[in-house]
Amino acid sequence: MKILIVGGGGREHAIAWKAAQSPDVDKVYVAPGNAGTAEENKVENIPIIPARIPELIAFARQNSVALTIVGPEAPLVSGIVDDFTNAGLRCFGPSKNAAALEGSKSFSKAFLRRHDIPTAEYDTFTELGAAIDYIESKDAPLVVKADGLAAGKGVTVAVTPGQAKQAATDMLSADKFGEAGHRIVIEEFLAGEEISFIVISDGENVLPLASSQDHKARDDGDSGPNTGGMGAYSPALIVNEALNDKIMRQIIEPTIRGMRAEGRPYRGVLYAGLIIDDSGEPKALEFNCRLGDPETQPIMMRLESDLPELCDMALAQRLRNAPVEWDNRAAVGVVMASSGYPESATRDRVIFGLDAEFGEDVKVFHAGTKRVGDDVLTNGGRVLCVTALADDIAGAKNKAYEAVAAIQCDALFYRADIAWRAVARETMTIHNGF
Ligand code: AMP
Ligand code: GLY
Repeated sequence: MKILIVGGGGREHAIAWKAAQSPDVDKVYVAPGNAGTAEENKVENIPIIPARIPELIAFARQNSVALTIVGPEAPLVSGIVDDFTNAGLRCFGPSKNAAALEGSKSFSKAFLRRHDIPTAEYDTFTELGAAIDYIESKDAPLVVKADGLAAGKGVTVAVTPGQAKQAATDMLSADKFGEAGHRIVIEEFLAGEEISFIVISDGENVLPLASSQDHKARDDGDSGPNTGGMGAYSPALIVNEALNDKIMRQIIEPTIRGMRAEGRPYRGVLYAGLIIDDSGEPKALEFNCRLGDPETQPIMMRLESDLPELCDMALAQRLRNAPVEWDNRAAVGVVMASSGYPESATRDRVIFGLDAEFGEDVKVFHAGTKRVGDDVLTNGGRVLCVTALADDIAGAKNKAYEAVAAIQCDALFYRADIAWRAVARETMTIHNGF
């Protein structure tokens, strides 16, 4: 069969690479893809951007595409799955109504409250005066969030009341995020360790993917501005069986049940961003209606099952019996980003060393890259995610960094400490003897 992947980042490179390994798949189209997807066996890039849904539908029809997998949130929130389905095409992802869990933070916070799912205390505002009164009545830090999608930039963790007021003013009166910021959520700051808990659901049954964690801060020591993610690893060692069960029972299952009860059955990938507090209790920070980037890269390295088959089973509402196998080894992905990221990004710089012999446990996933003649050039903020498998996190980390060192580009930087928490936890476990 033929598959279409919508998107062009590192997540979509990893999805395309994995989908192409399925014996049932003859061809994987990626719209628009990048220089990395262009090189994969069985994979071809198509010059259609994700926002052009009618063109994607026409392409899928003309090329007898049997299954479409949507990578990014924006087309899901605008209803790509409904449009494909109405056109008689099979498309894996949540409907527009279900994707509101990511598309509207006020919807998702009210949903969490309605269903008694643990989350931060909050209120919603459309008027600046009321927002400022609320900020003055609460203790900092506070978190100010634009209601709609804002390309990952709509959240301000405000350490002082002044910063919270500034963020609210930027959104409600200075139009910083346009329509997406005309309604805001202000919530209490949750302290603890952040994890990504990613599942596939068919509307009723839930299949958790391997656990993962990413590093959102740009700089070493988890400092500096928030980014889409500077690296990720799987498994997240903090998620033991007891915590996994608690997250499923207290957060994931009530969410899937609640969405079904509200007439918005959730079919597709659900990514819950969670905070685990010091006493081990999980709270929901946010939902995403798609796989994480860069979490997908280490997760796909560990997935041994057939990805298109899992998507098919979710679409057919047969996920209850889905077989899923994981490589027992750990995977670590290190993002190489363009200088200036996340505020801006240099472009068109040649990347050297991509054809080095990295070995079969290393995969260099591309994100913002393009090919011009014989050269691969930088073409965006996050450029590569160098991902490696090894027996433990420390080994995978070392292998990933060895590969990073073989790649040269004067306009790329990366964090030197990806997976530090997990490495520390591994060391502690060995010393404690459990
Ligand atoms: P969101 O888009 O809601 O995930 O927010 C982006 C990032 O901001 C999250 O991944 C967290 O690192 C941080 N964040 C969001 N909400 C909170 C909160 N209530 N407490 C602490 N950190 C938060
Ligand atoms: N890595 C964070 C995200 O995909 O939202």
